[in-house]
Amino acid sequence: MRSMNTFTATLKQLVVPVSIAALFTLFTACGGGSEASPTAGTQAVSKAAVGEKIFFDTSLSEPAGMACATCHDPARAFTDSHALAISMGVSEGVIPGQFGGRNTPTIAYHVLTPVFGFAEEGPYGGLFHDGRAATLADQAGGPPTNPVEMHNPDMASYVDKVKNAAYADDFKRVWGNDVFDNVADAYSKITATVAEFEKTDTRFAPFSSKFDYWLKGRVQLSSDELDGFNLFNARDKGNCAACHPSIAPSSATPPLFTDFTYDALGVPRNTAIPANGDPNYFDLGLCGRADFNSPTLCGKFKVPTLRNVAVTAPYFHNGKFSNLRDVVKFYVTRDINPELWYPPDGSGNIVKFDDMPDQYKTNVNITEPPYDRRPGDLPALTDAEIDHVVAFLNTLTDGYILP
Ligand code: HEC
Ligand code: HEC
Repeated sequence: MRSMNTFTATLKQLVVPVSIAALFTLFTACGGGSEASPTAGTQAVSKAAVGEKIFFDTSLSEPAGMACATCHDPARAFTDSHALAISMGVSEGVIPGQFGGRNTPTIAYHVLTPVFGFAEEGPYGGLFHDGRAATLADQAGGPPTNPVEMHNPDMASYVDKVKNAAYADDFKRVWGNDVFDNVADAYSKITATVAEFEKTDTRFAPFSSKFDYWLKGRVQLSSDELDGFNLFNARDKGNCAACHPSIAPSSATPPLFTDFTYDALGVPRNTAIPANGDPNYFDLGLCGRADFNSPTLCGKFKVPTLRNVAVTAPYFHNGKFSNLRDVVKFYVTRDINPELWYPPDGSGNIVKFDDMPDQYKTNVNITEPPYDRRPGDLPALTDAEIDHVVAFLNTLTDGYILP
């Protein structure tokens, strides 16, 4: 977690409030964002509108069948809605039977993620569970050629598909007639186009949950929801807000429920992930990145937003949990009743933090509530209190209809 003051200060320095203000202006100005065509004399086409077409185009994979939206379905806050992904914890690629190693996160509200950096308390920001992509455009360049995702053999084959798409002329109107001449250049323009859609379309940052309307005084929370909110914030109870802040980071931005820091929670191993069939394979998070090898970063993953969390199962970087109540119960009983979550070894001893190599287990956070307990202690939340926290989390789903 980051202390509130530092958090606000860092956000101010790094998110550049101007960009948030600009974003909101865009939202109100045109609802979808637009950029005039640089090609004079042709009808103006918005970059975001072309980006939207690319985002939903299932002909851009090899073979055809998978778009960004296949894994990031707007009906589920841009997560994977396939039953298999929810039960296994990870998404299947366009080649049947090929699975990635990580849960598909929501990509809503990511326009507000600061670029990756280091603050006094450690790393924060960046895209992906390990922050390795600096910008939405960098990120959008990954899936097209990832063999367990859209499976294009190379950039040229992806560019070629866009060149033959029905909206290729619109793409040229945005970028110029010679845009397809150079493969690397065209590829980066395609990713910038998709990023423009993600940055400007209101569906990615609607702030239309019951909680948002409650903040504006337009609806009441039920007593269970309100109790859950208080337990979520209370330092000696859930203490969830320590890492998932429920206060607005700036006057222009409502609460995001993430401070964008990284932490090791010791989430149990998900044996459904094919890569985990190798007992020596571990997803090390931050220290698994090519650019870091500091042992203190091993097992740490980015704190995700909790907006829409009720509709974005499965949970955690490895998709281990498919039920929100289990997640909250895990937080408060991990250190009191580890046998509920971790398997025994050959001699019947429970192996805590079984998804991390032994030498990194000391990185797991065992000092901050709610996981500062020891066997015999009372959990930070009772069963009824867990239900109330879950009731509160349910108020974070966008698209709430005011009574
Ligand atoms: C096969 C499923 C799949 C497809 C297709 C896919 N993604 Fe993703 N996406 C994922 C997974 C899994 C992650 C997390 C990967 C990681 O952390 O290493 C992710 C992460 C992201 C993130 C970062 C989210 C965060 O929390 O930091 C963004 C943004 C994103 N995807 C956008 C896209 C775009 C744009 C496309 C199309 C060009 C796309 N994705 C295609 C599965 C998919
Ligand atoms: C010390 C920081 C910290 C505290 C305190 C904390 N969390 Fe988290 N939370 C995280 C991190 C880090 C992750 C991602 C871990 C991972 O993927 O391995 C996470 C993930 C989650 C997820 C999964 C979301 C998703 O989309 O996968 C939920 C739900 C959640 N937290 C709820 C809570 C609740 C409820 C509380 C309070 C009872 C809480 N958290 C307290 C750091 C924290």
